[in-house]
Amino acid sequence: MMEKSYIHNGVPWFDQKGETVNAHGVCLLKEGEKYYLFGEYKTDDVNKYIGFSCYSTENLSDWYFEGLALQPQNEGLLGPNRIGERPKVIKNHKTGKFVMLMHTDDLKYMDPCIGLATCDSIDGTFEFQGPLLFNGEPIRRWDLGTFVDEDGTAYLLIHEGDIYRLSDDYLTAVEKVSENIAPGGESPAMFRQDENYFIMFSNKTSWERNDNYYLVAKDLHGPWVNQGLFCPEGSLTYNSQCSFVFSLEAKGKNVPIYMGDRWSFPQQASSATQVWLPITVVGKTCLIPEYWPVWDSETISKVSIEGIEEPLEFQSNKNGESVSYTFNGSQVIVFGTSDCHSGYADFLIYDELGELIHTAVVDFYSLVPDSNSRYVSPKFPTGNYMLKVIVTGTNGVWYKKDGTKFGSDDFYVTLQRVKVCNED
Ligand code: GAL
Repeated sequence: MMEKSYIHNGVPWFDQKGETVNAHGVCLLKEGEKYYLFGEYKTDDVNKYIGFSCYSTENLSDWYFEGLALQPQNEGLLGPNRIGERPKVIKNHKTGKFVMLMHTDDLKYMDPCIGLATCDSIDGTFEFQGPLLFNGEPIRRWDLGTFVDEDGTAYLLIHEGDIYRLSDDYLTAVEKVSENIAPGGESPAMFRQDENYFIMFSNKTSWERNDNYYLVAKDLHGPWVNQGLFCPEGSLTYNSQCSFVFSLEAKGKNVPIYMGDRWSFPQQASSATQVWLPITVVGKTCLIPEYWPVWDSETISKVSIEGIEEPLEFQSNKNGESVSYTFNGSQVIVFGTSDCHSGYADFLIYDELGELIHTAVVDFYSLVPDSNSRYVSPKFPTGNYMLKVIVTGTNGVWYKKDGTKFGSDDFYVTLQRVKVCNED
């Protein structure tokens, strides 16, 4: 029997309908017995706000699409042809309300502003309230994070390292507690371990990954000390950008879990994936010593899925070329290499009647090469299936505000082997 609390990194996840989990720049909250994931609901072509999604789970492994937590608005900061990114939801225990903060912008990222939405229940539809105010003025900044301290005080974290304390009801910002502690830093994420506060940042390379770093302080007012990288240098934060740190209760203690984005422009909806890993904290240092392709969130340990491995060697950059593999089992895992010459592949699963029962789009691009699992199918009733992997002849290419080009220079899809698992 396969364990239920396994987290697979860097592969698309699927919801109750077998559709790809579409949540990016996420945050995670626990309410009752369930965890709720809020994120950017992306498209596969244009980069614009089409809503923020909410998914729930009891085991951090099986995801249920609750729907859109915040709908596109008819006008205003999140109206048509606007950007909406990095929704962060916090629960106010005094008012019982859920408060969502997010980055709003125009399509060129020239009109940034922190927005505010509220809801009475965690799985309800949030109501957009407009800009979050500080001294009566909107905060005209972009990447953000949130942090709630043990006493319930909440903070807004901003790129370059500004930190604001929120009012008791979390509906306005009332104090700037730190300023510019990380010049050039983006995507802030904070956690606390004992008496130390840790804040992580990425560098500014748009959706390209870079070596993220962290600072530590005993007081949110500082002094903040830059502690350097928390992943091995050159791994580009295991090919991800920090988004959030969730404090997971496991093994009788709180374990900080790093949650990062492996972006995939333009196919963000289908192919951008998550990298979630436990953080090791020793005093003032924090570290993710190793990349775990799959790990158990109950035991906080790296695991290997049981199954039968077979070679499936394939490499092509030709649009339409494909490889097929028939198997008897309940799940298939495909291993391959991503690098800067690679593109997208369509993954299709057919049942024994030849009916298409599952599809996914997998990105084989990464700036630093990485050989790992690239696709983990949903679990099916044990039976005969065929997997087909088709080279699409498309790849991820994107540009930063200043015109810098990022992404792949070819369309390769490279596979090495498969693993077939059986639930029975
Ligand atoms: C990143 C930022 C993302 C997104 C992206 C757009 O630097 O962290 O949230 O805004 O740029 O290029």
